[in-house]
Amino acid sequence: MMRTLRLSLRFVVPLALALFVLALLVVPLVDALTMKWFVRDVEIRSGLVADSVQALIAAPLAAGDLPAIRERLERTTRDDRLEALALCTDDGTMMVHTSAWPASLGCQVGPAIATAPRGLIEGRLHVTAKPLAQGDRSLGTLLVAHDMNFVRRRSADARTWVIGVFLLTGLIVTAITVLMAHLSLRGWIASVRDMLRAEMSRASPAAPALAPAPAPEMTPLLGDLRDMLRDIESERRLHDDTTLQWTPHTLRTLLREQLSGDEIIVVSNREPYIHETGPDGPVVRRPASGLVTAVEPVMRACSGTWIAHGSGSADRETVDARDRVGVPPRNPSYTLRRVWLTEAEEAGYYYGFSNEGLWPLCHIAHVRPVFRSADWEQYRLVNRRFADAVVAEAKTEDPVVLVQDYHFALVPRYVREQLPKATIIVFWHIPWPNPESFGICPWKREILEGLLGSDILGFHTRYHCKNFLETVDRFLEARIEHESSTITVAGQPTRVEAYPISIAWPDPPASETPPAERVAAARAALRERWELPESHCIALGVDRLDYTKGIIERLRAVERLLELHPEWIGRFTLIQIAAPSRAALDEYQRFQAQVRELAAHIDERFGGNGPPPVRLLVEHHDSESVQAHYRGCDVCVVTSLHDGMNLVAKEFIGARDDERGVLVLSQFAGAARELHEALIVNPYHIDQVAEALHAALTMPEAEQQARMHSMRQLVREFNVYRWAGRMLLDAGRLRRRARLHARLGETDTAPKT
Ligand code: G6P
Repeated sequence: MMRTLRLSLRFVVPLALALFVLALLVVPLVDALTMKWFVRDVEIRSGLVADSVQALIAAPLAAGDLPAIRERLERTTRDDRLEALALCTDDGTMMVHTSAWPASLGCQVGPAIATAPRGLIEGRLHVTAKPLAQGDRSLGTLLVAHDMNFVRRRSADARTWVIGVFLLTGLIVTAITVLMAHLSLRGWIASVRDMLRAEMSRASPAAPALAPAPAPEMTPLLGDLRDMLRDIESERRLHDDTTLQWTPHTLRTLLREQLSGDEIIVVSNREPYIHETGPDGPVVRRPASGLVTAVEPVMRACSGTWIAHGSGSADRETVDARDRVGVPPRNPSYTLRRVWLTEAEEAGYYYGFSNEGLWPLCHIAHVRPVFRSADWEQYRLVNRRFADAVVAEAKTEDPVVLVQDYHFALVPRYVREQLPKATIIVFWHIPWPNPESFGICPWKREILEGLLGSDILGFHTRYHCKNFLETVDRFLEARIEHESSTITVAGQPTRVEAYPISIAWPDPPASETPPAERVAAARAALRERWELPESHCIALGVDRLDYTKGIIERLRAVERLLELHPEWIGRFTLIQIAAPSRAALDEYQRFQAQVRELAAHIDERFGGNGPPPVRLLVEHHDSESVQAHYRGCDVCVVTSLHDGMNLVAKEFIGARDDERGVLVLSQFAGAARELHEALIVNPYHIDQVAEALHAALTMPEAEQQARMHSMRQLVREFNVYRWAGRMLLDAGRLRRRARLHARLGETDTAPKT
């Protein structure tokens, strides 16, 4: 009611004002016009009066009978508008006049009137002079005085009418305007609502398209609306990002509040804990895998179930009847469900299609991908088995399923077929190549369609997202909305988003010893362990023995450093921790042999009798040992030829609470997009890497501190809980929207009352 009143006033007040101004302008105009018309009327009447007087007085005038003339003139003035008459001689002498003739006028007005063709207005009188004649003989001049009060009366009447008509018209126009405004407003509100609902359908992958397309006149607003929604969305994300301190506790709270404690199921090939047969029974080993490093702390925080390939020799001994084991072994907080693979399955799905096909395909590292039909068959089969395991583990019809990496490109679609209400998030831990490179995969369409069974598809960088969108655009019939980074295939929308992965920021050590002292002790211990002099400089590499890691290039750079700066000979060693990986594959065996050969060559060339310039450690190191190396070295070297993120770079930063040490980082690792204070290098440019090593080894402490301080702040804030949290927040939003849409859908179909 109030709204209607306000709306009406908004139209009525300006209209009333406009009418008032109009009236101010129009009324004097009306006055002037009516006056003009009446004066002309009086003029004509004066002529008629003169004509009749001329006939009446001709005889008495000839007889010189002035009383008879007066009597006739008096009779003529009985007309109430005619005030008085006077007859003057041609030389201006009053002959006779009626009783009402004002003495002040006399006959003197005659000459003045002669020059005023429309007569003269004297006070309330209008006077005209009409010459009278009989034949050629002049009878004198008749002065005719009209009372003008009647003109004023009529003018006032006319003014009243004009204002009345204006007011009435104004009222009618106002009423029509208010009515039209109401109708248009209702139409606009309905159209804007349609638009909002259409936008919600677009933005909500899980929601059916409920809203009609917006009316054509609303389309100019659509872009603005989208911009606005995007701004709100990015502001909200920024708000989430800047206001939340991401910790395991934040993540747990988020799960409880945003996902109402929904169950989380993770699927990956590599398991977080591997049981191996040891001399005294099963021993637990942690795999060298960036994926495991990142996802494990998240699972500890979220609980839930992690489904993975049981690859350890003692894995079967340690699970229950349903192939489950609680992990972490010392303090279980989530369930590891193991899936067993036959040798043929592992050979085809893991070694073959995943690591000889997709791995080199996605890493531009100059190793040709190999695609075999038999491997593809196994890949499909094993993907189906893992999808079935997800369905079997799901306690609800809509779990949140986190599918990890290139081993399971088909799992999202297979799970979707069986659990259509699940929220499926895929994270692709390795790079996504450009469409030309991806195009060589014989089953590219199946891979893309499989991935697009998910609701959210995450990559480390925007660049990989862009490559993926372009690949889909090239090879599939899909609707791609670049603004919202959403791909829709067969009615299933998938949002493609960048979520840079990270590490769990280490807890501060319990000891009271200052970081510098602890690092000094770690430095000393490391040098003692590898029999190096106390002042010896150490660069560290920590990688799986994989051709994408740029280990050959790193060794060449060490050799070049010693050529260019011989002062380092005998004073510097690169300790290369190289965890054996995928050793069943020829390519990896060849690579291992190359690395060993080159390391031996450099040691022979520059080692002499002193410490070797390269210490190659081809073996698994547990996390404690790796941490000890991070803390005891001077420089950490990451020279990947292509890497999704590379968590070694971030782990090194996390370990250096003394804020010392230098990171040399490949420009082709995703981490280079975040860690700008590292010494960024092109690993193919050997001289450049050698010089970067030299610069790192000679960098003043103050500069090391400034760089390390800034990188530590970034990694602490953008930790792995934020990575998982942002994905889960997005998933939570999708689920809420889907529920809202389900409700809207019900409302829409409900009979209107
Ligand atoms: C990369 C992949 C992970 C994989 C890891 C170790 O980081 O993205 O999925 O687990 O390498 O490789 P592996 O084949 O030993 O699991």
